[in-house]
Amino acid sequence: MGETFTLHSFMDVNEVLQFVDRLVVERTGKHLDDVQRAVVEGTWQRQTYDDIAQKCHVTKNYVGDVGAELWKLLSEALGEDIKKTNFRSNLERVYIESSQNICIGTNHNFTFSSQILNQPNKQHQESNTNTQSKSTNHDLTLAPQIIKFHNRESEIKNISNWIFNQNIHLISVLGLSGIGKTTLVKRFVDLNLQQFEVIIWKSLKFPKSLELLLTDLLNVCHQEAKETIDAKLKQLFNIFTDKKCLIIIDDVQNIFISGELAGQYQTEYKDYQNFFTMITETQHQSNVILISQEQCAEMECLDEELYPIRCLELSGLDDVEILRNMGLKDSSTTLTNHEESWLKLINLYEGNCFYLKSISMLINKNYDGKVTDFLAENTLHITNQMQSHFREIFNHLSPKEQEIVLQLSKFDRPISREDLRQSLNLSSVDFNNGLQSLQQRYLVTKIKEDKILFKLSLVFKETVL
Ligand SMILES: Nc1ncnc2c1ncn2[C@@H]1O[C@H](COP(=O)(O)OP(=O)(O)OP(=O)(O)O)[C@@H](O)[C@H]1O
Ligand SMILES: [Mg+2]
Repeated sequence: MGETFTLHSFMDVNEVLQFVDRLVVERTGKHLDDVQRAVVEGTWQRQTYDDIAQKCHVTKNYVGDVGAELWKLLSEALGEDIKKTNFRSNLERVYIESSQNICIGTNHNFTFSSQILNQPNKQHQESNTNTQSKSTNHDLTLAPQIIKFHNRESEIKNISNWIFNQNIHLISVLGLSGIGKTTLVKRFVDLNLQQFEVIIWKSLKFPKSLELLLTDLLNVCHQEAKETIDAKLKQLFNIFTDKKCLIIIDDVQNIFISGELAGQYQTEYKDYQNFFTMITETQHQSNVILISQEQCAEMECLDEELYPIRCLELSGLDDVEILRNMGLKDSSTTLTNHEESWLKLINLYEGNCFYLKSISMLINKNYDGKVTDFLAENTLHITNQMQSHFREIFNHLSPKEQEIVLQLSKFDRPISREDLRQSLNLSSVDFNNGLQSLQQRYLVTKIKEDKILFKLSLVFKETVL
């Protein structure tokens, strides 16, 4: 503990922003907005409210108000009296205390975590051999860069809990295309870079054999891959045992057969089935995240006590913030109306970022960005881009699933299994398998009211009709 710390060598303004952002999210459920970010950044760099106001093109008074609110929130979160004048020095002290494992604040049991501060603290290293003490080995070349990220706090919390508290070996992040799976996982990775010795992001967008994937993974870990697939697996699982690794495999749906029920492996990718089972069943300290539009049996967990498998099924976002920077305007004058129409648009397109981006482009071109004008026409418009996307999805389904979808699209309301079954000329086996498979693809959702009902995604329904 006898070390002294010069703060600026360990903390830069981005780390401070991340730290404050996390406290704010914990307290309010919302991330820092642009002005709040500017206040934190400016204050850290010892700028005046005048400088910050000029940079943000807002008044000095407004910046002062935002600042006051922020200092109040931080004071409560850290149990310290935080003001503009003492923000930097207080954070420095809090940091030093926390790096000596002292708990911060009386009412908030929070310490700076190593994910925010990548600091070489001996004591910390000794108590946490999983993290900074060993050399890290990260390959995120194929991972997207996340610039904007909203909501999904509970999903991030779930993943963190599964990985850091329960050591769940196999986590699947599932949902429709465009719902935000890749973005969510990348955000989790960005927040936890320091927690893993090895992080490798792979995509099966252009699928490859398991053997090639194993060779790639071993190469990133600086190991020369042995000859046989069995030997390679052994090498990899030895690494999984020795080190805390995080492997992300994106676009897993591409190894499944098109035209058949969901989650059936193509012959050349059948090895993946054993690989996923091995990840679950062997003992090690590592975690694999699969990202897929389609669920297969190995991703499903029937007994959480028995198997270290979890799946996170994503639904749409409902925050107006996701529409910002999409060039949309609004003809309404009040903020509430403006938010209301944006929320309507988000609900109409089921909170799916891909649909929302696509429709925003159309609204920009044809309605000069005015959401209320578009909504006034009262139609669920399907863009060209969506149409070709859904055609692809429909063609990818098995013939029985296509029959069910076509039938479901005729109903305006969710329908019970019995009614749906009656309206179709399918055997009980085909019907049940088809209905299950459509849910494994997140095209049909089950609604639990007094009766169990099934519903086709509205946007998909419009395309099928
Ligand atoms: N939480 C979020 N905040 C802001 N933008 C988001 C969020 N989630 C997704 N997006 C945006 O929505 C778009 C689609 O997200 P993403 O690529 O993660 O979807 P996906 O589920 O992985 O789709 P696919 O299955 O087709 O790969 C991205 O451009 C991303 O920027
Ligand atoms: Mg993706």
